[in-house]
Amino acid sequence: MSTSERRGRETATIETAQTGIADGRGMAPASASPAEMAQAAQEKAQVREVIEQKAGGGVSLVAEGVNAWYGSTHAIKDVSMTFRANEVTALIGPSGCGKSTFLRCLNRMHEVLAGARVEGKILIDGQDIYGKGVDSVRVRRHIGMVFQKPNPFPMMSIYDNVIAGLKLNGIRKRKSEMDETVEHSLRGAALWNEVKDKLKESGASLSGGQQQRLCIARTIAVEPEVVLMDEPCSALDPISTYKIEELIGELKQKYTIAIVTHNMQQASRVADWTSFMLAGDAGYGQLVEYGRTEQIFTQPQDKRTEDYITGRFG
Ligand SMILES: Nc1ncnc2c1ncn2[C@@H]1O[C@H](COP(=O)(O)OP(=O)(O)OP(=O)(O)O)[C@@H](O)[C@H]1O
Ligand SMILES: [Mg+2]
Repeated sequence: MSTSERRGRETATIETAQTGIADGRGMAPASASPAEMAQAAQEKAQVREVIEQKAGGGVSLVAEGVNAWYGSTHAIKDVSMTFRANEVTALIGPSGCGKSTFLRCLNRMHEVLAGARVEGKILIDGQDIYGKGVDSVRVRRHIGMVFQKPNPFPMMSIYDNVIAGLKLNGIRKRKSEMDETVEHSLRGAALWNEVKDKLKESGASLSGGQQQRLCIARTIAVEPEVVLMDEPCSALDPISTYKIEELIGELKQKYTIAIVTHNMQQASRVADWTSFMLAGDAGYGQLVEYGRTEQIFTQPQDKRTEDYITGRFG
């Protein structure tokens, strides 16, 4: 394996997560004490500060006729969709319909699997990420990803986890600049207050919800434009889920966000746009319907969407 392929694979393990609501409820759950409420308000102000520095920084991502295969298995067929700048798009659909496959096509992670193949176009700000001469490692820097299971590097400290993506991308900074990036990223992921006194401790020492926010910080640290999240809350308790959802609502001001979720309430809470995918009898997944989240959940145009959101199958 060449160095660039190896680095591509390493980068492919790097994730980020965000999911969100911007309804002003703050980071604290309803049952929070006054001290927790104050802490939550402080965290929220910090996240806002980080966001405001680069508000509107997301770019649109457009998928045109995307097909993906695993060997001879045709997993998704002709999927076209737009992920609008600074908005959240949710991908929903039954297990096996190709949501994760499609998401991995969006930042060239699908191709790292042996025998995997992609056809079609993915345009970021008009440029095809599958174009001739485009470096997949650079693509993944601009289009970050957060996975279902928080996966900080267990042998690395919290500090080193945040800057891991920078190192993989060959970005060098002075120590003081690195310190700044670490603080800025952890604040942006609403984790700074909880870890600022133990940055040298292992990333594995954090709770699941904190680890997921650490993974978000790691993604933010490389300053992507787009953040892809594959069921980022499915391994988290309700309070951690709430925090991540809240965070997504804040982060979309800076990033363009795509989130796969099995949780319909989550999709309706965090997403501006929702797309419903389904695998038919032929086996491959296709896009059935795409629209404003409210429309998809209240006035679906396709009977299959209606059946799915009302729990008749899937
Ligand atoms: N590594 C792989 N090798 C071969 N086939 C795969 C691989 N990963 C996924 N598939 C197949 O591709 C299809 C789509 O899978 P994918 O994981 O994208 O679905 P999904 O919608 O994300 O499902 P879930 O909701 O369960 O996560 C499935 O038929 C699956 O079996
Ligand atoms: Mg999946």
